[in-house]
Amino acid sequence: MVNKDKNSPVTLATLQGMKQQGEKIACLTCYDASFTRVLETAGVDMFIIGDSLGMVLMGYESTVPVTMDDMIHHAASVARVGRHAYRVVDFPYKTYETRQQALDNARRLIDEGGADMVKLEGGTCMVDIVDHLVQHDIPFCGHIGLLPQSIEELGGYKVQGRDEAGARAIMEDAKALEQAGADMLVMECIPSGLATDISSSVNIPTIGIGAGPGCDGQVLVLYDMLGIAAQKNPRFVKNFLRDSGSIPAAVEAYIKAVKGGSYPAPEHEY
Ligand code: KIV
Repeated sequence: MVNKDKNSPVTLATLQGMKQQGEKIACLTCYDASFTRVLETAGVDMFIIGDSLGMVLMGYESTVPVTMDDMIHHAASVARVGRHAYRVVDFPYKTYETRQQALDNARRLIDEGGADMVKLEGGTCMVDIVDHLVQHDIPFCGHIGLLPQSIEELGGYKVQGRDEAGARAIMEDAKALEQAGADMLVMECIPSGLATDISSSVNIPTIGIGAGPGCDGQVLVLYDMLGIAAQKNPRFVKNFLRDSGSIPAAVEAYIKAVKGGSYPAPEHEY
């Protein structure tokens, strides 16, 4: 095991070491101080303070209305008490339209929100922005496959990369982002075979959500894996609270299943 000590911070080097040694990265979304404590006690390696908070905390229909102030408010709540898990914070919709806007907002997410790394949605079309962030030493995570901020253009929450051309485009996205200096990739709702191929083609850790067991780590929206989200859960979500009896036990079961390779199971794959 690469990182056993729950009182020392997980770093990017820790996560890279986990990829190299084949230890799966257990990640969950997290948006507040109380869950930060519960999740860290259970041993979660990494948090994504995702703009999914707009749907699960704020009651919006999509992530689109979320603002920079919303992200900073929640990221700072996690950072205030966080001692262990690596924190990746989302740029909200239309806050990275130009190089300068992206850099200014990345600095806010880090300085005011306590982010260890920032994440934005998109592949080859974002390379210029990513390059600018990386040139300014901003740790960066890409997000490819299903892009919730582009849900209108994508025509709904659908699996991406099912046909040959789509799969090729997502593979190119992954390689272009790595080439531009990305440190990590989130891959959402893509076929398992494609996610496995990408994970073995890039040297940076890949974190899957609906992308099958071949990724270097897994993430779920916390409220989905506890079975308390309002929306109908997609195929890839497993309710870990149902058989666990308590929230800490559910999170421990999730970590054990991710590390042991039993989640995601075939019924969660595309
Ligand atoms: O906003 C979010 O929750 C995400 C997921 C992919 C983890 O970005």
